[in-house]
Amino acid sequence: MKASAPAKIILFGEHAVVYRKHALVTAVNLRCFADVKRSSDFKIISPLGITKLDFETHPWISYAIKNFSNIKPINGVEVRIESQIPIASGLGSSAAVTVSVLKALDAEFETGLSNDDICEIARKVEIDVQGAGSGTDPFISTFGGMWLIPERKKLNCKDFNILVVDTKEKSITSEMVKKVAELRNKYPEIIDPIFDAIDGISLRAMEVFDTGFDWKKLADLIFLNQCLLRAIGVSSSKIEKIIEMLSEKGITAKLTGAGGGGCVIAIGDVEDLKIDNSFIVKPEKEGVRIEE
Ligand code: PMV
Repeated sequence: MKASAPAKIILFGEHAVVYRKHALVTAVNLRCFADVKRSSDFKIISPLGITKLDFETHPWISYAIKNFSNIKPINGVEVRIESQIPIASGLGSSAAVTVSVLKALDAEFETGLSNDDICEIARKVEIDVQGAGSGTDPFISTFGGMWLIPERKKLNCKDFNILVVDTKEKSITSEMVKKVAELRNKYPEIIDPIFDAIDGISLRAMEVFDTGFDWKKLADLIFLNQCLLRAIGVSSSKIEKIIEMLSEKGITAKLTGAGGGGCVIAIGDVEDLKIDNSFIVKPEKEGVRIEE
């Protein structure tokens, strides 16, 4: 059985959302595909290599299988992964691989899990691998669409282009979250108002998405969000160079996800831009699904 699950992009509000402020997050039309077959032993085949159950090379898939086995014990399975989502770049590739594997396992072994169950197990896998996590990535990858976080209010998922430029530098979420926590511990009276401002940006952006598209307003909000992300120390010189280069072309951009590397995003009139290591994605309504 083959299943697929989408990537995600944080449009506004990363880091502030760790402190219960608002973020706008959308699934996008890049997918991870998991093909699962019954077998007498365990085999995982992915761009990262071919292994048995292996919690070092394939932690997300191995923990997905382990957590699934707690529901339905299995003696073996072959899992083959093909993914359109760049790894460790803030686009939710880990959650997409977890969710697609769980959905394919559910179909292959006929366990009748609901998508709520799959989301819950994927959340457990996130905790097994990372020790913590907001659960946002598994949620978006399972259900698709655009959402206001943390309350998980579903927004009208419109069709627009998102330019993604990959810095090709790794973005390590746990490190960046820790760095921001340290800064906040030192200067709470300065950092908390920054988070409040980011909260305001996400809420304003939600209004703009709700009431049609005012690209100029969205550009203002992207600009302000990036300034504040820079202020809390999660930008990088590579990110800033890309943003500067886009700005020279009249495009306003920001980092997405944890920062320190990863990807830069821009929305609006971006379709015909030719930029190295870039691609265009669109919001994706559909979450995890079985592929025929
Ligand atoms: O880079 P990503 O996709 O792991 O996103 C991290 C977003 C943070 O707000 C920095 C952390 C979180 O759990 O929300």
